[in-house]
Amino acid sequence: MKVAIYSAHKFEKIYLENIFKEAHEVKYIASPLTVETVSLAQGYEAISIFVNDDASAPVLQILSKAGVKFLALRSAGYNHVDIAEAKRLNIKVARVPEYSPYAVAEHTIALMLALNRKLIRAHNRVMEQNFSLDGLVGFDMHGKTVGIIGTGKIGSVVAKIMNGFGCNILAHDKFENTELKNKYDVLYTDCETLCRESDIITLHIPFTPETKYLIDKNSISKMKRGIMLINTSRGALVNTKEVIEALKTGQIGHLGMDVYEEEAALFFEDRSEEILQDDVIARLMTFNNVLITSHQAFLTDTALKNIAETTLRNIECFENGKTCENLLTI
Ligand code: NAI
Repeated sequence: MKVAIYSAHKFEKIYLENIFKEAHEVKYIASPLTVETVSLAQGYEAISIFVNDDASAPVLQILSKAGVKFLALRSAGYNHVDIAEAKRLNIKVARVPEYSPYAVAEHTIALMLALNRKLIRAHNRVMEQNFSLDGLVGFDMHGKTVGIIGTGKIGSVVAKIMNGFGCNILAHDKFENTELKNKYDVLYTDCETLCRESDIITLHIPFTPETKYLIDKNSISKMKRGIMLINTSRGALVNTKEVIEALKTGQIGHLGMDVYEEEAALFFEDRSEEILQDDVIARLMTFNNVLITSHQAFLTDTALKNIAETTLRNIECFENGKTCENLLTI
């Protein structure tokens, strides 16, 4: 089968090449799928895309005319795909529902620790032979209350790690996980109580119309002063401009973000020679208590192997007319 793989970055291509080998006629396209690049899919029955590619209705309509019948997402999240339109056009969509919840959970903890113990500032100082400790005081994680919003695959790994740290754990989810309650002392509560009582809040729910701007000036005002907020889920769960206001007053004491609501125009590319046009992220970059990574929480060897393997399996299921367990059927 002819497969076009969009957003095939260097870090991932080697894994895809290893898995796909000569099994299919694969075209690797470094650019993301957009209205401008969609014509490159002409003549390909299957295409594969990543998290910041644009699979909105207009793009899907062009894909359909180009002969595309299968969309293999190399992500768990699918908020970038108009599923209803894909269904209408009879384009099947499959995702990689789980490739390593550990990768994302561990990056979440890395952000917490780096912010708490001010590792970036400390390292930069040492590199300048400044061995002073002033301004680097952190806090013991042990005994602090961590609020986990979303205890699915990733959130539950975060809960288990936090339990190991000796944290008190509050959780909010539509569904309670009995293993977390019984074995890891996780206490489920409503979002408001979680916001009020946590020292650290970490987000692990999907982005949907319902969860958009879950963190806004209203929810932030209910949090403890100096709260640490971590978002490795999706940018638009957070109203970034309102978060900036809270950082300016000290209401938010630390912010760790792996995702950003306008990331599609920035992340995954070297833009070091460009003039930064995004004033919101530019302001975020001025705070020394904000740590930003460019959507790399998933980026481990294990996760990349799993993504490549599941993507190939999804494509082959479609090719062979087999039932694909990862099809999105909404
Ligand atoms: P999951 O589907 O296993 O868990 C999501 C949890 O959120 C579920 O338990 C669900 O019940 C809960 N939930 C959904 N809507 C809710 C609502 N309105 N209120 C309360 N709870 C709600 O998903 P998983 O694998 O844990 O991933 C979570 C998110 O992490 C993904 O949606 C994705 O956005 C993000 N992600 C980020 C990555 C990164 O590299 N930064 C990589 C992979 C995923």
